[in-house]
Amino acid sequence: RKKVTIQALQALRQSKTPISMLTAYDYPSALACSSSTLTDITLVGDSLAQVCLGYASTTQLTLSEMIHHARAAARGTTHPFLVADMPFGSYHTSVHDAVANAVRLVQEGRVEGVKLEGGREIADVVRRLTDVGIPVMAHVGLLPQRHSALSGYKVQGRSVEGAKKVLMDALALQEAGAFAMVVEAVPQELGKYVTDRLRIPTIGIGAGPHTSGQVLVYDDVMGTWSGHKAKFVRRFANLKEVRDHAVQSYGEAVREGSFPDAEAESYSMDELEWARFM
Ligand code: KIV
Ligand code: NA
Repeated sequence: RKKVTIQALQALRQSKTPISMLTAYDYPSALACSSSTLTDITLVGDSLAQVCLGYASTTQLTLSEMIHHARAAARGTTHPFLVADMPFGSYHTSVHDAVANAVRLVQEGRVEGVKLEGGREIADVVRRLTDVGIPVMAHVGLLPQRHSALSGYKVQGRSVEGAKKVLMDALALQEAGAFAMVVEAVPQELGKYVTDRLRIPTIGIGAGPHTSGQVLVYDDVMGTWSGHKAKFVRRFANLKEVRDHAVQSYGEAVREGSFPDAEAESYSMDELEWARFM
């Protein structure tokens, strides 16, 4: 498949072809995302923090860590449009700092676009990044980088005021130049309404079936862990079972001495050479 462009994403939205976005955190997961021609966007999400680095929340992830992983994901990415999350704190101190940090993600992390969580209050940053040629994917609704301020990971926009805030933020970010927008954990009615009101693609996660596209976390899709599963997650595989079984089987084979096999899995010395050696 040809490299996916912003124009191609806009065409998918216009033809009402659901856009498929999936996260990746390193070279192998990026290769996996690229293995299907149906993947339109690969996101190096800051869910990297919990999924790969064992942090309690995304707020602990640094820009250097994100760059290191984005760079690896870039090496495994072929046709999907590659986006990375700007980590918490990397776009909040000033527009100047935000540009400098986004430039690092492009130059060192090798991504094509950046994603920023927030509403109207970050519109000036979105405007500036867009103006200097760094495509911005906005992110409204549930903002995991603000889980402390929001008192947890809760569905957003369920009240009239909450729904109005999500809509006003979405419109302001579109005006600021965002090329697409993640809409996280909102009622499906609001997911559809925001999608209908915008002219850029919406990528939903827990926003119902009517957004322009969907995104899920790679490890949720693969079922590599068996802990809490959000309502909006569907596990498309159960890799945890497969993986833990392989680790157990390997341990057993080593213990019982059945691995390695002397013929199939071992090297042998030429008999004459061995005789001389002895
Ligand atoms: O960090 C992440 O994985 C994300 C997506 C789930 C949208 O932001
Ligand atoms: Na994220």
